[in-house]
Amino acid sequence: MANPLLEVRNLSVSYGDVRALFDVSLTVEEGLIVALVGSNGGGKSTLLKTISGLLHPTGGDVLFEGESLGKTSVKQRVDKGIVQVPEGRRLFANLTIRENLRLGAYLPKARANYKDSLERVFGLFPVLKERQNGKAGLLSGGEQQMLAIGRAVMAQPKLIMIDEASLGLSPILTKTIFDLIDALHEQGTTTLLIEQNVNMALKHCDKAYVMRTGNIVMSGTGDELLADEELRKAYLGRRAVAESRGGES
Ligand SMILES: Nc1ncnc2c1ncn2[C@@H]1O[C@H](COP(=O)(O)OP(=O)(O)OP(=O)(O)O)[C@@H](O)[C@H]1O
Ligand SMILES: [Mg+2]
Repeated sequence: MANPLLEVRNLSVSYGDVRALFDVSLTVEEGLIVALVGSNGGGKSTLLKTISGLLHPTGGDVLFEGESLGKTSVKQRVDKGIVQVPEGRRLFANLTIRENLRLGAYLPKARANYKDSLERVFGLFPVLKERQNGKAGLLSGGEQQMLAIGRAVMAQPKLIMIDEASLGLSPILTKTIFDLIDALHEQGTTTLLIEQNVNMALKHCDKAYVMRTGNIVMSGTGDELLADEELRKAYLGRRAVAESRGGES
């Protein structure tokens, strides 16, 4: 197994009196695609925001490349290579695509490699190259998700974390987004992604964790979890189960 890039150890997080994460531990090895799935309110976004440094744990620790992040700021984490694609994309609708991408490379290290990163993003997302001078707000939902991921790539992530990769997208665009995640994977980027389409997530990931009410309740390779009857009943609709059976043959 490759070296752990990210280790989450016994992490607890609360919103005021409400505890959202209970002793959560997980490991993301270098070069893998790891999926976080599970029911609404399970704590997936809370976990990603804590890894990004937007929320502070009440207990436990996050280690990146073997070092405790402690109270490292969001900006310092981005500089280390931990970059989140937020839920809802958070693009600047009135700025152009190129301007949005430039904002992804705002830290000195990333700015120094701006041109190479832009070529990389345009290589991955030709539609963004074609429309680079158009306003981000005019892109379709799927294109906006591409831009949000592209903006994260501009920051030269070692670990890219995507909250709700395919939310609101058609099946075809969902597939496009997953193809892009695969392309990033082939370029060596490690990915931690939250995905509501459990079937799709399990098929694309190397490993997955299932969260429920602030706990990790199951983990394994994508194939192991796809074969798990309990998980199929809980998280995969009948159609998805049939599709995944079809996919196995
Ligand atoms: N800003 C907040 N203030 C108070 N409670 C919050 C806040 N954000 C989330 N919570 C609560 O923390 C718990 C975990 O929420 P979180 O958003 O992390 O879940 P999730 O797994 O991402 O859910 P979803 O699949 O619906 O996006 C939930 O009970 C939620 O209501
Ligand atoms: Mg969420």
